[in-house]
Amino acid sequence: MCGIVGGVTSKNITPLLLEGLNRLEYRGYDSSGLIVLSNKNTFNRARSVGKVANLEKKLKSRSKKINGNIGIAHTRWATHGEPSSLNAHPHISKNSVSVVHNGIIENYIELKNNQIKQGYKFESETDTEVIAHAIDFEMKSCETLIASVQKAVMSFEGSYGLGIISSNFPDRIIATRKGSPLLIGIGENGNYIASDQIALLSETKKFIFLEEGDIAEIEINKVTIIDIDGNLAKRPIVISKIKADQSDKGNYSHFMQKEIFEQPQAIRDTLESRITNDSVISSAFGYEAEGIFKSIKQLQIVACGSSFNAGLVAKYWIEDIAKIQCSVEIASEYRYRNPILQNNTLFVTLSQSGETADTLEALKVAKKINSKVKSLCISNSAESSLTRLSDLTFLTHAGPEIGVASTKAFTTQLVSLALLLCSIGKLQKKIDIKQEKEIVIGLKKLPGLLNETLLQESLIKKLASRFKDNTSTLFLGRGTMHAIAMEGALKLKEISYIHAEAYPAGELKHGPIALIDKNMPVIAIAPNDELLEKLKSNLHEVKSRGSQMIVFEDEDSKVQPMESMLVVPIISNLGRISAPIIFTIPLQLLSYHVALIRGTDVDKPRNLAKSVTVE
Ligand code: G6P
Repeated sequence: MCGIVGGVTSKNITPLLLEGLNRLEYRGYDSSGLIVLSNKNTFNRARSVGKVANLEKKLKSRSKKINGNIGIAHTRWATHGEPSSLNAHPHISKNSVSVVHNGIIENYIELKNNQIKQGYKFESETDTEVIAHAIDFEMKSCETLIASVQKAVMSFEGSYGLGIISSNFPDRIIATRKGSPLLIGIGENGNYIASDQIALLSETKKFIFLEEGDIAEIEINKVTIIDIDGNLAKRPIVISKIKADQSDKGNYSHFMQKEIFEQPQAIRDTLESRITNDSVISSAFGYEAEGIFKSIKQLQIVACGSSFNAGLVAKYWIEDIAKIQCSVEIASEYRYRNPILQNNTLFVTLSQSGETADTLEALKVAKKINSKVKSLCISNSAESSLTRLSDLTFLTHAGPEIGVASTKAFTTQLVSLALLLCSIGKLQKKIDIKQEKEIVIGLKKLPGLLNETLLQESLIKKLASRFKDNTSTLFLGRGTMHAIAMEGALKLKEISYIHAEAYPAGELKHGPIALIDKNMPVIAIAPNDELLEKLKSNLHEVKSRGSQMIVFEDEDSKVQPMESMLVVPIISNLGRISAPIIFTIPLQLLSYHVALIRGTDVDKPRNLAKSVTVE
């Protein structure tokens, strides 16, 4: 969603702000902007619609350059007010206060009406501008900038991560967060703020993660933090393990392509120090996990987007193999429907970013409904709002995922969920040593199998040309492959803008079959499992309605190719755990190459954000 970067340094801050914005662009964007305090303590601002490159162009063409030692910057994903230069951040109040904001101020209309009465003039349609005016108003009666911010935020309802500078206090940035992520970077030449570590990795690896309600005053060689109750707070400095070059494309054309090919290593990293030769180590989910896992009677998984699809696969695994009840729900539904949450439920949130607003709220709702329920967060982000709020955390170790469409985060979530299945199943004596050994050995083979599958890229690239002028595609699968079909359909619509739907193949006759003709290609996934014969009958039903079909099969499935049906063998002898992970790969590659042919912005598809931190 919106990205924030800012800093106070001994150097010119503008290049750092631009680099940070470029690194944050993956979170979603429609405009960007920056503001710097000049040596004469005046604001110099530039804003632009579209990509950060447009802002850079604008800055280059200016005769008066924007230089200074303190500044804040923002990539915007519009919520209130269309994408336009006027609505882009930073916003200014009376040349005294400037603000960048991630989140939504829900009561902004009420605040705006009051501020208009106080004489403030509005230049944008955003909810953010009221923040700048509210701080400016409080500055009249407060002695310091931090005190003005402390007072102003009391009137805000909603969520915010804020970076604030003032021409009256030209040596400091104030940063505060509630419901939106924000961190402080501690550098050699100054101190910084950002909504994501990635923005600052070229400058520092030392971070302080602000807690809910914290307000920080950031000076060139000093950081002071006040907690939600107004007390001086000490927050630890965490050394980031993310390498700066992990957020570069390397030799790949797109982050998505790079991340697809990183999956073998990402899975190796996820498994590292979590398994022995034949079992999952008992502390893989943390030392308190054992007691919790022994006592649970059911699991409730909650997630959004690709993470939800990963949860659906886990439901099949957990009920089928460990015989423990498992429900999966979309977080934005769960949080608003007064669900019933039994004692002894393990509440599992799946989230690449750990910051998805709906997933976070669903966890808060669960805690409210039943305070006895224990929570586990499976995330790719060590320091996130979700991990901080959960009893247990399991990190996927996929490394930074920049492409908006999730790839390696999804497959490493599946691997993590397979480890969860083993841990709980073993502790509850629902999985024996032999079964666990089989699963673990299967997981260890995955990187090799994935490398083999990735070799099919050139074949899949050829198939992609069939979708150039296509408007709709149907994905079919049964069992876990229905969830993988959903993930395949999600990838295709996200990055190639082709309408795509996934159906459990057995449900075909209850509606979607009416859509099938020669213009509706069907992609089916055919693992060699107990539902194979049923799936084959479904394929005949599709075939007889004239569809062009592509079937990705296990070599042992031996689907008979028919006219207008292309059968693509992937790998033979895949098991229940490895099959959904392996079959994800051709679907990712297909979407990627279809998107390339259609000329879309693969890494930053229109209207989408990597991390949806607003509702
Ligand atoms: C956005 C992203 C998806 C992601 C979903 C959930 O929609 O574009 O790729 O799957 O959010 O994000 P999370 O970080 O919670 O997994």
